[in-house]
Amino acid sequence: MQIAENVQPLQSAIFRWAASLKSWNLAWETGIYPGEMAAFLGVCEMAGVRTIIESGRGDHAYSTRVLGEYSERTGVAVYSIDLVPNAKQIADLEDRYPQLRCLVGSAFDFVPVVAARQSGPLALLLDGPKMRPANRLSMMVSAVFNVVVVAHHNCPLESPWGKEFAEVFPGAFHYEDLMLAQAEEWRAFKTWERDCVKSYEISDEDDGTVGRSLEMSSLAVARLERCRYTKKRLFSLWQGDPRHNPLMLYAKWRLQNGSLSKCIGQQTASSS
Ligand SMILES: C[S@@+](CC[C@H](N)C(=O)[O-])C[C@H]1O[C@@H](n2cnc3c(N)ncnc32)[C@H](O)[C@@H]1O
Repeated sequence: MQIAENVQPLQSAIFRWAASLKSWNLAWETGIYPGEMAAFLGVCEMAGVRTIIESGRGDHAYSTRVLGEYSERTGVAVYSIDLVPNAKQIADLEDRYPQLRCLVGSAFDFVPVVAARQSGPLALLLDGPKMRPANRLSMMVSAVFNVVVVAHHNCPLESPWGKEFAEVFPGAFHYEDLMLAQAEEWRAFKTWERDCVKSYEISDEDDGTVGRSLEMSSLAVARLERCRYTKKRLFSLWQGDPRHNPLMLYAKWRLQNGSLSKCIGQQTASSS
């Protein structure tokens, strides 16, 4: 883990977004914790992100609504992808947040196609797919497009897939590494967060479900330097399910870009 020497501007950005997030008063049922989202927004602001691509809206879309609020205040474009075609949820989200576009389909198809349509710096927030497949997808997209921030949920850096994340994205961190807890305002925010999520925490389960706690976040975050991520890197992480091999994902994107781009055009046109 390498954190920039001067973390103070990042800490300040996170504190500001934490205060905003609290004022938005969004109900939390399940999903990414508020503190994790505040840290993600702070990192996006500091990295000058112009488009956020989220995958994994879930049943309650907490993270999507936070991104929608952020887009209202910053003009940053947000694309949210999920396999589940929940038409009512999508209509409500897009009505409430005009800069947000919800897409229905697989992240393995849509994330590269959406990324290819953007000109400014990008951030990826993956909360489905997860684990090693998520690493492969983010790796391919960041090797080819201008991705400056990558964040994966349920990705403790000490887990096998978290270790792989840190190898692929050097400098990966959890927000606890930023020493936020030294500030009274963060400690107060964490008390509010505990109430907001009704103290929801789970331990690791035998079936492989990853535990999560309010004391140690599971959102792995990395800021990327463009020059490090060349297409040559697509050859790494070739092991595992061939459908998630970065080179295969790249080839699939090249083959399907036209038709999927049309499909995204249709989905976004029918919702606007
Ligand atoms: C835990 S939920 C997301 C929760 C949400 N981020 C929040 O904070 O409320 C995971 C979601 O990922 C979606 N998902 C899983 N694999 C996916 C894939 N390959 N492409 C798109 N969505 C996927 C699932 O359909 C599910 O809705």
